[in-house]
Amino acid sequence: MNFYDSEKMSDLLKPHGYQLDNNEDNADLIVLNTCHIREKAVEKTYSELGRIRDKIKLRKEKTGKKSIVAVAGCVAQAQGKEIMKRSPWVDIVVGPQSYQNLPELISKVDPVKNNKYIDIEFPTIPKFDHLDCHISDRSPSAFLTIQEGCDKFCTFCVVPYTRGAEYSRPLTSIIDEAKKLVDSGVKEITLLGQNVNAWNAVGKDKNIWGLGRLIEELAKIKDLKFIRYTTSHPLDMDIELIEAHRDIDKLMPYLHLPVQSGSDKVLKMMNRKHTSAEYIKVIDKIRDYNPKIAISGDFIIGFPGETDKDHQATLNLIKEINYSQAYSFKYSSRPGTPAVVFFNHVDENIKNSRLQEVQDLLRLQQMEFNKQFINSTQKVLVLKNGKKNGQYLGRSPFNQSIYFYSDNNLIGSTIDINVTEAFQNSLTGVIKPNKNI
Ligand code: 5AD
Ligand code: SF4
Repeated sequence: MNFYDSEKMSDLLKPHGYQLDNNEDNADLIVLNTCHIREKAVEKTYSELGRIRDKIKLRKEKTGKKSIVAVAGCVAQAQGKEIMKRSPWVDIVVGPQSYQNLPELISKVDPVKNNKYIDIEFPTIPKFDHLDCHISDRSPSAFLTIQEGCDKFCTFCVVPYTRGAEYSRPLTSIIDEAKKLVDSGVKEITLLGQNVNAWNAVGKDKNIWGLGRLIEELAKIKDLKFIRYTTSHPLDMDIELIEAHRDIDKLMPYLHLPVQSGSDKVLKMMNRKHTSAEYIKVIDKIRDYNPKIAISGDFIIGFPGETDKDHQATLNLIKEINYSQAYSFKYSSRPGTPAVVFFNHVDENIKNSRLQEVQDLLRLQQMEFNKQFINSTQKVLVLKNGKKNGQYLGRSPFNQSIYFYSDNNLIGSTIDINVTEAFQNSLTGVIKPNKNI
């Protein structure tokens, strides 16, 4: 979502004379977009701000030039004034719900007066109404935010506080943006939301639509070839969405469905509102409707009170689901969340060894998953050049990176690739002879 927000900020600033520059040394404006989900992000923000002051701001000042530094995103939202206190060279602090005001804030900054601006409001008029700006060149695969915020209040998570209450973007605004993206050459759209499958809005027939219906509508856009969404909550996997995985060819067979733990005791402490059996039931149902679907997830290791038995339950659940790929994180205590005051924090060494065990198992499953594709043919969207000469990187329907070579520029095209080798994080292949789509 931060990637999407960053692209939007850059689109917003273009009409005001700003252009993206790969060389930060000469930047007139630096926007540091930040994430607050785990602890390291805050410290990273401050050390990055120190680097920006030394490497860009002070150096430019020596030559008589000024640069503006803005901090955006969830660290900005959570830290607010504290950022100005700890890093007084920052000119603007802007939260994820108010970055549409960035052009105005920038125009007000006066380097001589050294005035500073903080905007971390949750505006009553949704920011999307102000973000209908020109879409600059995108990769063939683009993000599109359809939902923001969360009302689930998992006890470890800052999202309900930094991104606010659940908000679903209206249908017409989503369709308009999707069409604009496709008109600008985009072939694949990933629908985004902290709780993307909680999206609902008044549909064309005046009934309330869920994500499944939205995907059905988006699939009607002719030149849109691939649709994905992330990230979902197990409780919001409704039947329409599950049916969409069976019925809509453009919806890719990949589902990122975090569970966080395999222990019912821990799930309860996390306020996940479901048991491990209920999670497994949801996955079983999805696999009934689409047996090939690749399942991904998120795990938090070492939540307060997690015992060896709970950890075993997580390993068992991973074995039962058999993930194509998944993310795992050590529990990180976040200020302001209910879990901060929980007792029985897990020893750091135990956390590390449990994380290692979970990641080893997930790596094994990912390798096994990738190996199945050797000698198969995959329909691949070509995304960009690889690092080597003539090499291209594409994405398989199952969200795997596929590398192959070609003499022609194929970026943006859909092409059949015969998979030759499988690795931990990618596949390699060759273009299927005479069968390019
Ligand atoms: N500690 C560790 N991981 C966390 N996540 C969210 N909050 C925390 C936390 N406090 C992880 C969850 C979530 C993903 C986006 O980040 O697994 O699904
Ligand atoms: Fe955070 Fe996801 Fe839980 Fe919402 S559902 S509180 S975003 S982990």
